[in-house]
Amino acid sequence: EALSIMRKGIDRTLDVINIDLLEEAAQKIYPEGAYAFIRNGSGKQWTLNENQRAWGDYVFTPNRMSGVVRDNIDLSVELLGLQLPHPFIVTPFGSHGLHHPAAEIATVTGAGRSGGLACVSSASTASMEDIATASDGAKFFQIYLDVDPGITRELLQRAKDSGFHAIILTVDAIGQGSSDEYVRLGRSRPWLPYGNFAPGQSTRFKTDLSWSDVEMIREATDLPVVVKGITRPEDARAAVEAGAGAVQVSNHGGRALDGTPASITVLPAIADTLQGDVPIILDSGIRRGTDVVKALALGADAVAIGRPVMYGLCLGGASGVDSVISYFHRETVDTTLHCGVDAISKLGSSHVRKP
Ligand code: FNR
Repeated sequence: EALSIMRKGIDRTLDVINIDLLEEAAQKIYPEGAYAFIRNGSGKQWTLNENQRAWGDYVFTPNRMSGVVRDNIDLSVELLGLQLPHPFIVTPFGSHGLHHPAAEIATVTGAGRSGGLACVSSASTASMEDIATASDGAKFFQIYLDVDPGITRELLQRAKDSGFHAIILTVDAIGQGSSDEYVRLGRSRPWLPYGNFAPGQSTRFKTDLSWSDVEMIREATDLPVVVKGITRPEDARAAVEAGAGAVQVSNHGGRALDGTPASITVLPAIADTLQGDVPIILDSGIRRGTDVVKALALGADAVAIGRPVMYGLCLGGASGVDSVISYFHRETVDTTLHCGVDAISKLGSSHVRKP
């Protein structure tokens, strides 16, 4: 029954009250193994849990009586030359076919409705060419470098030819990312082909990454490179020196190295080191508009969202993705209003403090 709901290719607007409730509803639809694969984190899941707890390390210092008109609050942001109406980015996430039969086609359609930026994983269910033409919205392509440089070059060339605006190099997925629960359930989930690879083409991720890989991508594509998976200031600075156009502070949603700190706890030091030299995208654990505003106030220019968008895709297809983005939009406007400013660009360290 669960899979048949997915096969029907649902497209409906969702009444998103919060992400916990959305997840509860989605859990009823996913096969058990798929849910364990999507939801959980690696190891003891300390990082996964820390991604939620850590928002409490900062409290707001609301600014009353500022006369801001709610309807005039400006959420727009400029990122790598793109003018975006809001800072909510669909993060790169593999195999959208696990969530909905229309896979990434539905995701980018939903993200595009609000003019948002969508990132596409190299491990997508649909092919990058089909995804690229599915919507007019801005898109970045995320790559896992292959041990075979020929496969990598080919993917990069296809991404450039397809019109992706930037390449995201994910640098933290160099180990086992599965959760214990997923392994316990026998790694059982619907196995879907990857749309970017020929059937049977075997690909293996390169783990001996180095800063010269950033330079290689730049040379191969002439596109801006976003280095994703940064958690310390030294690496953020090194990324800029290697030619990165942006950094994405991330612990891979608690799926990479367990024990890596929550993104929000490392953001202030990274923002302090970069001093605005390149934009900062932050992900991992964003579930409310209050989380978004804390990230923006502490130095992020935009936020990337993973599981919440996938639950929206699962329950509502393209419209479900749009509903999740609308939920973040609504809550971010409310929180910005409390901060007493009429634009997210005016959020800063004066709006939050340690409790
Ligand atoms: C991911 N993430 C990820 N990142 C990436 O660069 N390429 C990928 O293919 C994937 N695939 C993927 C699958 C699943 C099931 C998860 C949970 C995560 C990481 C993703 O981009 C992002 O860092 C996290 O999802 C952010 O955390 P939240 O928002 O899910 O808490």
